[in-house]
Amino acid sequence: MISVSQRSAVEPFHAMDVLAEANRLKAMGKPIISMAVGQPSDPAPAVVRAAAAAALKHGRIGYTDALGLKGLRETISRHYSSHYGVDVPPSRIVVTTGSSAGFNLAFLAMFDAGDRVAITAPGYPAYRNIMKALGIEVVEIPMHGQANLTPARLEAAWRERPFKGLLFASPANPTGSVIPHDELAALVAAARDLGVSLISDEIYHRLTFSGPDTTALAFDQNVAVINSFSKYYCMTGWRIGWMVLPEALLRPVERIQQSLYISAPELSQIAAARAFEATDELDRIKERYRLSRSMLAERLPQIGLKLASPMDGAFYAYCDVSAFTNDSMDFARRMIAEAHVAATPGHDFDPLEGHRTMRFSYAGEPAEMEQAVERLKIWLNT
Ligand SMILES: Cc1ncc(COP(=O)(O)O)c(C=O)c1O
Repeated sequence: MISVSQRSAVEPFHAMDVLAEANRLKAMGKPIISMAVGQPSDPAPAVVRAAAAAALKHGRIGYTDALGLKGLRETISRHYSSHYGVDVPPSRIVVTTGSSAGFNLAFLAMFDAGDRVAITAPGYPAYRNIMKALGIEVVEIPMHGQANLTPARLEAAWRERPFKGLLFASPANPTGSVIPHDELAALVAAARDLGVSLISDEIYHRLTFSGPDTTALAFDQNVAVINSFSKYYCMTGWRIGWMVLPEALLRPVERIQQSLYISAPELSQIAAARAFEATDELDRIKERYRLSRSMLAERLPQIGLKLASPMDGAFYAYCDVSAFTNDSMDFARRMIAEAHVAATPGHDFDPLEGHRTMRFSYAGEPAEMEQAVERLKIWLNT
């Protein structure tokens, strides 16, 4: 007899079922175009791969300090001053095993079982699933088609049922919406006034198309920022990210990291330290996303896939498919089988309203994206 916990009974990532189906059809030789996965099709920058190769040749890859390699933390600190004009000492930076580990660490260090923490719906599903597994009560703030969380919406949700923490992302997954500078300042101030602890997921920074990035740290040094090398830096599989924390969280996070992960992988830390040198290479990739974004912003609505959100950042188009279906899971399955285009049903991101939305990732090749739209046009017409 083996025991299975109740806490592990989180929702599956339904998109993975769609992906498995796409892979099955691909293996059968079907010409599937994937717009399902939120990951760049490019490898890590050349300078990053060279640093990793040299480190492998050099010898032992071991544990590092729980908070991360000093050199990488210093490099990230310099990134805050050069990219954002914000002063963050290396001592407040913690290197993590992707931002996914950052969520675990932040939730464990900031909240107790039974605490309530708010997220927006739609939002990245792992927020909800990790919190549920940790016994944190998730408060979903429905966005009802609004692009961004406003101070008024935050306050209304809090008055209805107070919560201890708020987690949001800008640019957001799945909507791609970006909270503009002044609105972010107001949101951070509103959370502070309510006594709500903030976690800002900034994983899609440097992938904004609507203006410069603003970090929540520009307005308050008392927020926990989570970031990663996965997206702009094309390093999903390297499992490497970072957090910027207020002083009070440093030792708690260090203690938990020591036991949960010991440290982030040293090879990835050595490699990631070079990622900030690759801006030219990475910006060329971003220009490709920009091309696909313009094409999709124009063509998706033309074929009946209304944009449910502005495509300000990240690499997603979030579409309202209610003209075609009331069941996005079924729509996704039929789309793969009949049009050979894979995309993610909104159900994963929004348990309330996601049955009528789909997320299309445009992190792939622009020519493939064009081809996908052509196929969808024919499919939706028939
Ligand atoms: C909003 C958001 N946060 C975090 C992650 C996790 O990224 P990683 O663990 O690779 O850093 C993702 C991945 O898709 C995401 O979309």
